[in-house]
Amino acid sequence: MKRILLMTTVLLCNLAAAQTIISTKNTSLVIDAAQGKEPLFLYYGARLEDGDLSSLRAAGFQELPVYPALNTNGAHPEALCVRMPDGNLTTDLRTSSIEESTWEGGKIYSISCKDPVYPLEVKIYYKTYEAEDIISTWTEIRNAAKKKKDEIVLTRFDSGSLPIRRGDVWVMSFGGGWADETEAFCQPLGLGVRSVYNRDGVRNSHKAHSEVMISLDGKPREDSGRVIGAALCYSGNYELRFETGDTRRMSMHRFYAGIDPTHSAYTLAKGESFTTPELALSWSSEGLGGVSRNFHRWGRKWKLTHGGQVNDILLNSWEGVYFDINEEGMHSMIRDIADMGGELFVMDDGWFGDKYPRLNDHTSLGDWVVDRNKLPHGIEGLAEEARRNGIKFGIWIEPEMTNVGSELFEKHPDWVINAPKRELVTGRGGGQLVLDLSNPAVQDYVFGVFDGIMTACPEIAYVKWDANMQIYSQGSGYLKNQEHLYIEYHRGLAKVLDRIRAKYPNVSIQACAGGGGRVNWGILPWFDEFWTSDNTDALQRTYIQWNTSYFFPAEAMAAHIGASPNHTTGREIPLKFRIDVAMSARLGLELQPSAMTEDEKAHCKAAISDYKKIRDVVQLGDLYRIVSPLDGKGICTKLYATPEKDRAVFFWYSTEYFQGKQVPAALFAGLDPERRYRITELDVFGKPLSCDGKTFSGRFLMETGLNIPAKNYQGGPHRDYASHVLYLTAE
Ligand code: DGJ
Repeated sequence: MKRILLMTTVLLCNLAAAQTIISTKNTSLVIDAAQGKEPLFLYYGARLEDGDLSSLRAAGFQELPVYPALNTNGAHPEALCVRMPDGNLTTDLRTSSIEESTWEGGKIYSISCKDPVYPLEVKIYYKTYEAEDIISTWTEIRNAAKKKKDEIVLTRFDSGSLPIRRGDVWVMSFGGGWADETEAFCQPLGLGVRSVYNRDGVRNSHKAHSEVMISLDGKPREDSGRVIGAALCYSGNYELRFETGDTRRMSMHRFYAGIDPTHSAYTLAKGESFTTPELALSWSSEGLGGVSRNFHRWGRKWKLTHGGQVNDILLNSWEGVYFDINEEGMHSMIRDIADMGGELFVMDDGWFGDKYPRLNDHTSLGDWVVDRNKLPHGIEGLAEEARRNGIKFGIWIEPEMTNVGSELFEKHPDWVINAPKRELVTGRGGGQLVLDLSNPAVQDYVFGVFDGIMTACPEIAYVKWDANMQIYSQGSGYLKNQEHLYIEYHRGLAKVLDRIRAKYPNVSIQACAGGGGRVNWGILPWFDEFWTSDNTDALQRTYIQWNTSYFFPAEAMAAHIGASPNHTTGREIPLKFRIDVAMSARLGLELQPSAMTEDEKAHCKAAISDYKKIRDVVQLGDLYRIVSPLDGKGICTKLYATPEKDRAVFFWYSTEYFQGKQVPAALFAGLDPERRYRITELDVFGKPLSCDGKTFSGRFLMETGLNIPAKNYQGGPHRDYASHVLYLTAE
């Protein structure tokens, strides 16, 4: 007993001197970095004040290394593994100083550590985004050798690590494939290793997402329970992993996140540093919804290009014409979207290529010259037509890629990624290759593609930047160290995007990709939005958009009204339902207007006009997910509210219809219980609901709710696919 008391006293003395509380509005993270000692993690959760520090110890909180490195005690897994110049694999990190500085959105703390024996210096950073309740962490690893020959090799270099107390902890991760993006996988965390990773190499993971939700109180709920959200802000290969052993040390789960080191050991020469990407963490006691709202606010305020400004309503040509681009067809689409009240027309794939015209996905990437057979008056001619019709013009490119059938590849076969001396491994359409962005000449070329197009046609207001292939054959003709390829590719990409944004700060750019993960917070800072999925089936979109919204705001989530039957699923869905699903994010159209009836066009026109009334609430408001389409209740509901709660939009979708099946009352969330709200039904097709034009208290709507019939009154062959959009304005 005495021994324990003594230990506690010594630790408390140390703690009193070295503990740092890193706080946001509602959260705190506590580290203990005493001079000469390994920095330790003590706490992450609800906000603490100085007086609470002693309570942490009294409450039995355990200290664990902040940035565990392979060292001599061997008791825990590692965030950092380094091969020293003499081959020694162990690392001993001791705190030398802590610095604190302020930035516009909060504070930055850096803990400097040194290995007492080897020339290794590590700085561990924490950055607070105070108002958004996000704390991010990353590290800077430096080879401080004196001798030129002393290289060190990083074989694992996570951005950060977080101990999580064991209990009923659940983890939700996200992934999928092409047209089946962002499925959610939610399971309790047991013993062993659980890993979420991407090794596709390119900027958008083709399978999984680099974000996870960690529920500390059992199966996660939308509106209650303590949840930690974690997003690795990196565009390349990553691994998020949970390791849980059965030793005393492992009475905690350990969460690690960073660049995936597989085939990517990184060599640091004397004096070189490696900075790991930011790992953003958010804690909330308001369940998944609380964490999502934090990430949405953070993304809009600090990450997205033009975040906080509403995005345009557009028509994209892809599902309307695919590769069948021609001038008259484009003009007619421009006129149609302008007539419907849209603001932007985007010409997708198929407009380029001279020697190799882009007739399908087999050839032409890299030859970014307009196909004059298709567009005799060039891009400028289309931009002019858009201007005449009072809308903006946008264009599709895929500049990170080429095809074997292209003049670019004929001229620069050494510019592609492929293992030297091996046969070419190609992708999409059988002839696609990824350009080697580790090569500065390729970086200049990719910048030149963007710059050339913008210079030729400065009126371009929007660029859809696609990426439809992963790296299949790891190898660079440019790099000496092949293990550096995955990392240097993304450094090269970042340099290109920095140059583009410096020269073209105003153009909107959409991040697009060919499937799976598609988007991450590493790439979005250069982009305005992302193409959520090639699947425009509105029913499947209720699922995809629901899951995507866990980390990404509606402002950036492109949602387009597709044709019926849907081109991917073949499902026939009434126009109103298709519109209402697209209205719940950044609305657009992805169909051929000339194939629509006049009534359908009029319906879209009215809906676009309605969307303009609510666009700021949807794109910039706080999201409350209410009934998940995954819950099997037959409905999906959600609500966006302004931060002031004076305006809100409620979306209600029937996701299945069975004769006689009763659906739950439509309960609202996120409103002010004390205020009265007038409901206006939008996108009304037929008879509005009985609540239209009436007022209700926020409390009534949240506690009693509305009875919305599940039957679709649009007529036609279906009883299912009922949907409603209700606009609430506080009186
Ligand atoms: C994949 C995208 O997701 C589609 O929207 C379209 O742009 C095609 N690429 C074009 O090839």
